[in-house]
Amino acid sequence: MTLSLDDRQRAMLAEMGIRLFEPLPAAAPAATGTSAAPAATGTSVASGAPGRSAAAAASPASSASTQVVHSGAAPTTATSLTPPMTRPSAPSGRSPASPPAALALGPPPSGIEALEWDGLEQAVSGCQACGLCQGRRQTVFGVGDRQADWMIVGEAPGEQEDLRGEPFVGNAGQLLDSMLQAVGLDRGHRVYIANVIKCRPPGNRNPEPSEVAQCEPFLRRQIALVKPRIILAMGRFAVQSLLATQEPIGKLRGRLHQYEGVPVVVTYHPAYLLRNLPDKAKAWADLCLALDQFPSTEPGREPSIPT
Ligand code: URA
Repeated sequence: MTLSLDDRQRAMLAEMGIRLFEPLPAAAPAATGTSAAPAATGTSVASGAPGRSAAAAASPASSASTQVVHSGAAPTTATSLTPPMTRPSAPSGRSPASPPAALALGPPPSGIEALEWDGLEQAVSGCQACGLCQGRRQTVFGVGDRQADWMIVGEAPGEQEDLRGEPFVGNAGQLLDSMLQAVGLDRGHRVYIANVIKCRPPGNRNPEPSEVAQCEPFLRRQIALVKPRIILAMGRFAVQSLLATQEPIGKLRGRLHQYEGVPVVVTYHPAYLLRNLPDKAKAWADLCLALDQFPSTEPGREPSIPT
């Protein structure tokens, strides 16, 4: 198929970062009779892939009445194979944000479902089940009250989290802290915070489905150990991993879901909210839905909407 584009259309495509590859003028037949190098044909489109963003994680919400939906979570995928538990030493000077060379995926460490906290933390810090281990500075396990009633599940560490080894310590984390404070929680008390993915994806790209699948048993075990009374799933990857669904957040929020018998409230990722301020009101409604299921506060303390 050929495209005929005028100068204005070409300029617009260029502005959008779309490049056109057009057929070269027919080459003069080679004197030797051998075929010429193939010319590019047709029109291709190239566009830059965005890095991981919670914008991708959340589409505009539709609200719905409150009802319980039983969503089957993905079954545990831990296998009985045991991968090497030592960590490869990172080549010196390599930026953790540079894409790691592909690693053959191995199974996650075996027996995760029987580990207690110390063993689980060690298993995470030694994990090499996917290529993300090559770019991390350190794993980001989780933080907070290990007997909390509330559990927050985020996506994956970013740069700050990779540096500090703690989830949600960058800008998005500050908003999360304000949201928690608004309902009487803080990261040290009454809440446990963990991500689906324990290693920073290079350049904060979206985690691959295989990376989510390899890491999921760690989160599953964390949830089993904490035994939260309510889970707040923040952002697309948390939601997809916990609820084993591809539905967008906008379609899932506003009602209760279940993970292994624990009520789950779906909401936007704080990083998304930082860029989409009007949706903060929806996130507030989600927090209130969670509060309705399980109070976070000491009696008498009124939640107040975060700014
Ligand atoms: N975003 C997340 O989902 N988790 C973090 O720890 C930081 C940013």
